[in-house]
Amino acid sequence: MNAPLHSTMLDLGDVARARAPQLHDAPALHPGERAVAIATWQGRMGNEHASAKVFEALAEQARAAGLTAATVATLEQFRGEELRHGELCAAAAVALGGEAVVDLGARAQVPWHRDVDPLEGLLRNVLSISCLSETVAVALIASERLETGPAALQETLRSILADEVGHARFGWALLDQLTPRIGPARAARLDAWLRLAFGHVEAHELRELAAGPSPSRAATDVGVCDGDQARRLFYDTVRDVIVPGLERRGLRAGWAWAHRVVPGG
Ligand SMILES: [Fe+2]
Ligand SMILES: [Fe+2]
Repeated sequence: MNAPLHSTMLDLGDVARARAPQLHDAPALHPGERAVAIATWQGRMGNEHASAKVFEALAEQARAAGLTAATVATLEQFRGEELRHGELCAAAAVALGGEAVVDLGARAQVPWHRDVDPLEGLLRNVLSISCLSETVAVALIASERLETGPAALQETLRSILADEVGHARFGWALLDQLTPRIGPARAARLDAWLRLAFGHVEAHELRELAAGPSPSRAATDVGVCDGDQARRLFYDTVRDVIVPGLERRGLRAGWAWAHRVVPGG
């Protein structure tokens, strides 16, 4: 039976075995390469499942902030998409010979931000989730898809990428829509918030994207990420896409990135 959202161990074995694609066109893998590839897809499975919880919380927060029923429904749809991504990643782990099981570990809850009004609290989370994390995800997954060989894994990443583009665009569009309601005082507080958000997303990505020797061609073919390359792509995405995008919307994102606060630092 599949584990509920609050479980620490996530087991998607049933659905993954039913959906596991055939990887006839996968390269021969050494046991070590196979183990890393399985762990990569298991890790993605856990992250996607956690993203579902994030959008569940964001939908609740959007409702409390008085956003339209259509906006809340969109966020609930995103939750469903993230659950589907988790299942697709679980199926990839099984297709590579692994188990669709991952320890979700301790994950931070989406903060409600009760120190500010509901709209500002929502904006903080939309900035962190859609404009930062999901925008970075789009860049990373687009790159990983280009490296991936087997048709079924390419299709998995294509399908996930299409949704992640929607999750990122949602935030940028909502920011455009809400800009007239932000005002100078809120904007200044959001600039200060961005220092924390940038520090948090950087710490998260550096934790996820292990530095070190490049994986073999066979490993990247089945989805293993080249950490150094992905880290460079992360920094390029922040500097070339996210910071200019936020600056165009009146936030001092260049300043916030330059003065980002490292968690626990
Ligand atoms: Fe996702
Ligand atoms: Fe997403």
